[in-house]
Amino acid sequence: MPDRVYLDNSATTQVARAVVDAMAPYFDVRYGNASSLHSFGQEARHAVEESRESMADSLGVRADEIVFTSGATEADNLAIVGAALARSGGGGHVIASKVEHDAVLRAVEWLQPMGFAVTLADVDGTGRVDPETVRAALRKDTFLVSIMAGNNEIGTLEPIAEIGRICRERGVLFHTDAVQALGKVDLPMDSVDLLAASAHKLHGPKGVGFLYARRGTRLVPLTHGGGHERGLRSGTENVPAIVGFAAALRLALAERDEVTARMWRLRRRIIDRVLRMPGTRLNGHPEDSLPHITNFSFAGIEGESLVMKLDEAGIAASTGSACSSPNLEPSHVLVAIGVPLSMAHGSLRISTGRDTTDADVERLLDVLPRVVGELRAMSPFKVGE
Ligand SMILES: Cc1ncc(COP(=O)(O)O)c(C=O)c1O
Repeated sequence: MPDRVYLDNSATTQVARAVVDAMAPYFDVRYGNASSLHSFGQEARHAVEESRESMADSLGVRADEIVFTSGATEADNLAIVGAALARSGGGGHVIASKVEHDAVLRAVEWLQPMGFAVTLADVDGTGRVDPETVRAALRKDTFLVSIMAGNNEIGTLEPIAEIGRICRERGVLFHTDAVQALGKVDLPMDSVDLLAASAHKLHGPKGVGFLYARRGTRLVPLTHGGGHERGLRSGTENVPAIVGFAAALRLALAERDEVTARMWRLRRRIIDRVLRMPGTRLNGHPEDSLPHITNFSFAGIEGESLVMKLDEAGIAASTGSACSSPNLEPSHVLVAIGVPLSMAHGSLRISTGRDTTDADVERLLDVLPRVVGELRAMSPFKVGE
C-alpha cells in the first residue's frame, strides 16, 4: 500500500536510507565481535568506538560517558535502578513526574518495596513540571530526580535545565528521558547527570539506545557477564545498530533546522484546522512543545475507534503512547493534565517525521472531520450537550 500516510513517528520511525547503508556492512562484511582480538574484532571495536565518539562529540560530552544499551527502556532502568542500588546506606527518596514514560514510572515503582520512597510531582494543565514543585519535594534523603525532556504523548517540553540546576545545588542526581527530544531540541547537558535516548525515534534502528552517565556517577549494573561497556552493561555490542544510531544522530543534527521548521509549520496547520472542528481540545502546550507531536481530544468518541477508522482510510496515527495502546485505561498523562475523563478517552496523537509532507497532513485534515462525524453519529453522547 504505497499511498499510506504514517503519522505515528513518536511510536517509531522509518529507518533513513543513509542509516541502512551505514549499517549494512556490519551484518555481512565487518561482522566481528567487538571483543575479539583478531582483525574482524578490531574492525567492529573501531566502529563502536567511532560511533561513541561521534555521538559524544555532538552532545558535547566525553565518549566514556556514553553506555550503549538495548534501548531507552533499559537506559532509564539503568539510570534509576542503577543509581538506587549504588546507594551505600540503602533506601532514600526519588522524585519523578506524573507524566513520565512507563520506562521511568515502572522503574521507580519497582524500587518502592525495596525500601525507597517515591514522589510523583504534579504538572500544570499543559503537562509542565514547575521547577519549584521539584524544589519543594526535595528531602534530605532525595538522591535522584527524573524528569523527561519532552513528553511522548503530548509533546510538552519540561524545564530540565532549571530542574537540573536545582538538583546540582542540592547535590541530587538529575536524570532525564530525552527519547523524544534528542535531535529535535538542544539538550542542556551541563545540567544533567544521566540521560536516556533511543535510536528508533530518530530514523535509526530499533533495539539500541544509550545512557549518558556523567563521569563519577555511581551506578550498579543491571546485567552481569563479560563486563562490556566499562562493566555497566554486559552483553555483546550490537555493532550494526550502534553504527546506525550514530548515523541517525548525525543525520538528525545535520537536517535539524530544516526538518524542525517544517514540523512546526505542519503542527501549526494541524492545530489551526483541528481546533475549528467542534468539541475538540489541544492537549499539551501550544508553543513550548516538541515540534513533531500534537495531541487532541475529541468529545463523544473513543480514540481507539478513531485510530482504526483513520487506518482504514490509510492514515496511521495513535491514541497516545504505543506502549499503552492496547490498554483501555485513559492515558496517565491526560489524567495528570486534568483532561475530563469523557475527553481523555477520545485522544489522538499525530506525530510527524523527517519525511512528512504537506500532502500527508492535508490528507489527514481532509479525512478527519468525516471520520469524527461518523463516529459521533454512532455515539450515544452528543457534542455540545
Ligand atoms: C519518552 C520515552 N521513553 C522511553 C521509551 C522507550 O524506548 P525504547 O523503545 O527504546 O525502549 C519511549 C518509547 O516509546 C519513549 O517515548
